[in-house]
Amino acid sequence: MNKLIIAIDGLAATGKSTQAKRLSKAFGFIYVDTGAMYRAVTLFGFNQFPKGSVDLSLLNDSLDQILIHFEEVEGKQQTFLNGKNVTKAIRAAEVNKWVSQVASQEVVRTFLTKQQQLMGADRGVVMDGRDIGTVVFPDAQCKFFLTATPEVRAKRRYQEQLEAGLSGTFDEVLNNVKTRDKQDQTRTIAPLQKAQDAIEIDVSNLSIDEVFEILHTAVLKKHESIHR
Ligand code: DC
Repeated sequence: MNKLIIAIDGLAATGKSTQAKRLSKAFGFIYVDTGAMYRAVTLFGFNQFPKGSVDLSLLNDSLDQILIHFEEVEGKQQTFLNGKNVTKAIRAAEVNKWVSQVASQEVVRTFLTKQQQLMGADRGVVMDGRDIGTVVFPDAQCKFFLTATPEVRAKRRYQEQLEAGLSGTFDEVLNNVKTRDKQDQTRTIAPLQKAQDAIEIDVSNLSIDEVFEILHTAVLKKHESIHR
C-alpha cells in the first residue's frame, strides 16, 4: 500500500479512534489521535493552574512548555504529556468538560495543527479528529465523516468510562456529548464540519465491523484509482 492520508472526522464518540486504529494496522500506517492532543493540553491546564478550572489566557501563554507524544505500549497506543503517560487521565470528566473550550482557542489550534501536519508529512497516516479533512489535511486522499444519534454515542462513552473505572452518570455523559458537539460545531476557528469531499457515514445502527468494512473498502478503492 502506497502512502495515503486518511482523515476521519465526526461527532464525539462515534468510534472514530477505534476505526482509525484498525485502519492504521490494516494498512501499516501511523495513527494520530488528535482529540488526545487537545485533551492533553487541557490536562496540562489543570495541572498547571489547579483551581478546578483552566485559565485559558495563562494556558495560551504556556504552550511552549507542552510536549505531547504517542508511544506504543504492549500493542496499545498511549499518550504522553511531558514524558508522563496520561492515557487514562485525559479521559476524566473534568477534561471532557473543558476540552471544547480549550480547543476553541486559536493559539492552541495553531500549535497542535502544526504538529499534526508534521506527523503526517511524507508517510501513510490515519488521523482522527474534527478538522482533519477541512484544515489539517485539506488535500487528504481519503476523508470520512462519522455521525450517530447523541444517545448511541453517550452509551458508548459511558461504557468506556465504566470500563476505565472513571466516575460519572449516563445523563452527565449525554449532556457532555451534546454540549461538546454544539461547542465544536459553532466555534469560529476550524469548526466541526464535514469536508465537501468526505464520505458521511451514520454509524447509529452499524456494528464496529460493518463500519470498518465500509471504510476499508473505500480506502482500497481510492488507492486503486490513484495508483492505477
Ligand atoms: O475526539 P475527542 O472526543 O477525544 O476530542 C476531544 C475534544 O477535542 C473535542 O470535544 C473537540 C476537540 N478536538 C478538536 O477541536 N479538533 C480535533 N482535531 C480533535 C479534537
